[in-house]
Amino acid sequence: MDSNDIYTPPGGPPPTNPNVKHLFEKWGETNIRQLVSDFYDLIKTSEIRWMFPGDWDLAKEKQADFLIQVLGGPGYYLEKWGPARMRMRHFAFPISEKERSIWFQCYDDALQTFDFDHEDKIDFLYFLDGFSGWMVNRKEPPWELYSKGDAHPPEG
Ligand code: HEM
Repeated sequence: MDSNDIYTPPGGPPPTNPNVKHLFEKWGETNIRQLVSDFYDLIKTSEIRWMFPGDWDLAKEKQADFLIQVLGGPGYYLEKWGPARMRMRHFAFPISEKERSIWFQCYDDALQTFDFDHEDKIDFLYFLDGFSGWMVNRKEPPWELYSKGDAHPPEG
């Protein structure tokens, strides 16, 4: 298998999660946009910075529009950017389990600074965990793009 071959996670797409549908009402648009902004600020200093084209304002806007929609708020993403088709939109980016876990850690770290109910945070992270698993599209990390840090190709 070539490292650029698309990989399909065996579990398939996660089921719709009703536990996150009330979070827009509880957290509000301002907090959700701030969370996304903080998340992207962590991404900028993370090991997967190389994956992002660098228009951070646009990235933040799209990500927040999508989350607001998923968390039960207005359908901004559909209105502005069209049908979600998230797995397809991520094919351009080589996402293996390694990139997924760094991405997830940035959300977890950003979320912990917010004064939200613990149970709601768990529901949100559970949703992100399932959804991000479905975004995985490569079996192996693109090792050549990691120039520093402790990421090395496996021996042999
Ligand atoms: C599994 C780890 C993930 C990685 C490494 C990743 C990476 C990326 C990258 C590199 C972009 C392009 C950003 C840009 O154009 O500036 C992007 C776009 C986006 N991602 Fe992810 N993503 C992941 C998971 C997710 C998940 C779980 C969600 C939803 C909960 C999500 C939602 C989005 C949205 C809404 C966009 C904008 C798509 C568009 O309209 O162009 N991503 N992602």
